Amino acid sequence: MNLHIKTLENDARRRRAAHASILMCAPHHFGVDYIINPWMENQIGRTDVSRARDQWDNLRRHLSGCANLAFVTAESGLPDMVFTANAGLVLDGVAVVSRFHAKERRPEEGLFRQWFDRQGFEIAAWPEDVAFEGAGDALPDRARRLIWCGHGWRSSDLAPRLIETIFDWRTVGLKLVDPRFYHLDTCFCPLPDGSLMYYPAAFDEASLAAIRAVAPAEKRIEVSETDALGFACNAVEVSGRIFLNACSDALKTRLAAAGFAPIVTPLSEFLKAGGAAKCLTLELNGGALS
Ligand code: ARG
Repeated sequence: MNLHIKTLENDARRRRAAHASILMCAPHHFGVDYIINPWMENQIGRTDVSRARDQWDNLRRHLSGCANLAFVTAESGLPDMVFTANAGLVLDGVAVVSRFHAKERRPEEGLFRQWFDRQGFEIAAWPEDVAFEGAGDALPDRARRLIWCGHGWRSSDLAPRLIETIFDWRTVGLKLVDPRFYHLDTCFCPLPDGSLMYYPAAFDEASLAAIRAVAPAEKRIEVSETDALGFACNAVEVSGRIFLNACSDALKTRLAAAGFAPIVTPLSEFLKAGGAAKCLTLELNGGALS
């Protein structure tokens, strides 16, 4: 009986959690106050607050047309909290809260944990000493029911096994070798038709071989260095629309041929901190409105 009630409660909590699809955090306290990736070098104190606000609002407006949005309250003194992709990894009502490698971002952990808890997500246990920066380094590939996990800079190479155990989805670890592409979502983007958009030079040889072993050539959308540096892979896909900071004509054509509509939403202020569209969002369930 008790067990039955518990199951019903959990179902209700999950349904509530499933209502919102994308988590964002307003850039009230955004800025570059310290340096934890190469993009932040020489950018301390150089962000334009009102331009950042406009760019973020523009992305929010676009997304609100096709997804449910939820917001976590920004906290002063935590300038990177706007990058909710790093709050954790959420799948099927279960959240793994990030364990930041970057000590400057550790105070965000408790705030994100509290948000997930209050929204009714089940919070999975995670070891203290294994760094994991959430959906910045763990990208679900729904077409294959696998999670691509980046490591090498921020998240531990132990994270993929733990994620696999928690969610019962297969994981494939990818080693990141270029410090400019320090999170997997800066250089890799699985799309719902099984296409993978990525920048090959950000990965070591074994990882490139792993990608090729999973995705046939026609599903591999390799982007140029220019597109990679414009954070084209840091894209948010919702219902066939792909929101991204910048996109060359060649990449637009390639994405359109795969059936997607690229929509450019400039996010130059956030690039100063090393983030763009995907970093500013966290997928909470399946993406689109049902
Ligand atoms: N300044 C932030 C950091 O270095 C940017 C995070 C970008 N987020 C992402 N998912 N790639 O942690």
